[in-house]
Amino acid sequence: MGGEVAGNAILEIGDLKKEFGGLIAVDDVSFDVQRGEIFSIIGPNGAGKTTIFNLISGVLPTTDGEIKFEGDVINGLKPHVVAGLGLSRTFQNLQVFNNMTVLENVMVGRHLQSSYGMMSAGLRLPGGRREEKEIIDRSMEQLAYVGLDSMADVGASSLPFGQQRLLEIARAMATEPKLLMLDEPGAGLNRPEKEDLDALVRRIRDSGVTVLLVEHDMAFVMGIAERIIVLDYGEKIAEGTPEEIQSDPEVIAAYLGHEEIRVI
Ligand SMILES: Nc1ncnc2c1ncn2[C@@H]1O[C@H](COP(=O)(O)OP(=O)(O)OP(=O)(O)O)[C@@H](O)[C@H]1O
Ligand SMILES: [Mg+2]
Repeated sequence: MGGEVAGNAILEIGDLKKEFGGLIAVDDVSFDVQRGEIFSIIGPNGAGKTTIFNLISGVLPTTDGEIKFEGDVINGLKPHVVAGLGLSRTFQNLQVFNNMTVLENVMVGRHLQSSYGMMSAGLRLPGGRREEKEIIDRSMEQLAYVGLDSMADVGASSLPFGQQRLLEIARAMATEPKLLMLDEPGAGLNRPEKEDLDALVRRIRDSGVTVLLVEHDMAFVMGIAERIIVLDYGEKIAEGTPEEIQSDPEVIAAYLGHEEIRVI
């Protein structure tokens, strides 16, 4: 059984803190993500957005504070354990394996979820073989979901950049997450690719997966997020709906001088 869950929260962040030497990258940040919503974290470069993802996914240890997923504290768990609980992510810098095919890239994600794992598949145990077939089938479904099934046998490195971003999302979805964390999925995409991404993220949410989104494209965020928090130098300076955020004087002040986000 899980612990106490506030309301319908899937993720509860309480007084989260991360220090790197003397630098406080995340400074007592608290927020709750409700099940089934698209929740966005925005803020200027260096505000601490990726660091929060690294803390939640177990890539970095927290300095202080609490991270609860479905009511249970997950601080200190290893990344693969966190992933196994149903929490998956993509990376700001593409993490596509260039020497593998598109399908194999998704299978890597799926293997994380497998009880047999890579080892038994490699040894060709009967159960492992059955499971391997299952992993291939499910990985193909994920590729179809993002529209890359026809590219399954292509080397991942030969995909255009925008499709590599979709591949990363397919791999993250292959673990069948309850919460998907996307770190700047729109970076480097052109307008039509961003429209496809917008539709994909909505489809993911509509399928029952909660989405936590870090993104610099304000038009994209304001159009898709139900709730937003704004970070500045590691501190949460605002929380609200897109309308509330866009008219918040502190948010506008924080963005002034940051070239890349003047659209706000
Ligand atoms: N592993 C690390 N070691 C030391 N400092 C770090 C580390 N990771 C991040 N930082 C620092 O922490 C601060 C927050 O960085 P972070 O990457 O979380 O920002 P961000 O909001 O994701 O920025 P961007 O929009 O540029 O991706 C920055 O000052 C960064 O230099
Ligand atoms: Mg970042």
